[in-house]
Amino acid sequence: MKTELITSDYIQEAVELLQHGRIVAFPTETVYGLGAVANDEHAIKRVYEVKGRPSDNPLIVHVSSRDISAYVNRVPEYTPALLEKFWPGPLTIICEAKADIFAPSVTAGRKTVALRMPNHATTLDLIERVGFPLVGPSANKSGKPSPSRAAHVLDDFFGQIEGVVYGENSGIGIESTVIDLTDPSGIVILRPGAITEADLKDFPLNISQSIELSENEPPRAPGMKYKHYAPRQPIYLIDSQSPDLWNKAIRKFKQEHYKIGILADDNLVECFERDVDKTYQLGAIEDAQSAAKYLYDGLRFFDKSDVDVILAQVYEKKGIGIALMNRLEKASNHTYFNQKD
Ligand code: TXA
Ligand code: MG
Repeated sequence: MKTELITSDYIQEAVELLQHGRIVAFPTETVYGLGAVANDEHAIKRVYEVKGRPSDNPLIVHVSSRDISAYVNRVPEYTPALLEKFWPGPLTIICEAKADIFAPSVTAGRKTVALRMPNHATTLDLIERVGFPLVGPSANKSGKPSPSRAAHVLDDFFGQIEGVVYGENSGIGIESTVIDLTDPSGIVILRPGAITEADLKDFPLNISQSIELSENEPPRAPGMKYKHYAPRQPIYLIDSQSPDLWNKAIRKFKQEHYKIGILADDNLVECFERDVDKTYQLGAIEDAQSAAKYLYDGLRFFDKSDVDVILAQVYEKKGIGIALMNRLEKASNHTYFNQKD
């Protein structure tokens, strides 16, 4: 199969492919999405198939306007104000879905639907022209790091989907914040992202509901239970800015004849780049936004490289650092390198 690389000047080509039931990836401010028209069951099934996505993990529907009345039933009374403030933007809301609007597989049998209006002019234009919302799970193979560049999408899907709308590198770099609006006790954050708890302070938040659920509880955002964002090598998180713990980890893995990669802030990389095989710089340690923007490119860089183990910097869990560490902890299966290791 031929995968067309489509620039915004030729967007009509993407429109026609989608209207004919094809799959076309599109850029957003968070990560690239794997697009198909959200009422085309056949196309949606193929999205699950090419992505390798479990059939119980529903997709986000991308809309081009804040008027969602055609898609949802009851919404809380603060919803218009919430959308006014954050849409278009990196916020996905879960609402009660109207029956028979979307193809059944979109919601994976749930009565709710996830909606997002991306902050990306080309993609909003694409949705408008198609005339119906588009599903857009992150355009990576299931389990792998999400794509923050068009090249990442091609790495995973070249020859397997009909098109990629070419865009610049994603400005935010990690997926949207997912919130559930269907809980009467208030907004529940199911996946942290660039829009933080603090940003949502003017709205009724239920912060007692934890994002990370226990093994036995049915997941509220089913995607949370799956392995995620991971390159092929093991990742060890290093919670220290001082060289001691890093030196210790490097010594240990060198003894085992491992090729070592370091994913860290600029200072740490400069400190250790002569001691290890490969490095990837995420920016200044205070700049978690930069680290989020480059995270998936860094993880994909190592995935393609010959290193055997990745040592990754821990960032402070505040602001977007919360979402950044959520992704890094999942990618590493919560593995921290300790003094006693
Ligand atoms: O930034 C983003 O959100 C990107 C871009 C492309 O928009 N998309 C994205 O999609 O990250 P995906 O499919 O990789 O993640 C969607 C998450 C999954 O964890 C899924 O389980 C959850 O949202 N989700 C979708 N529909 C849901 C629903 N009805 N109820 C609960 N969780 C839902
Ligand atoms: Mg994803």
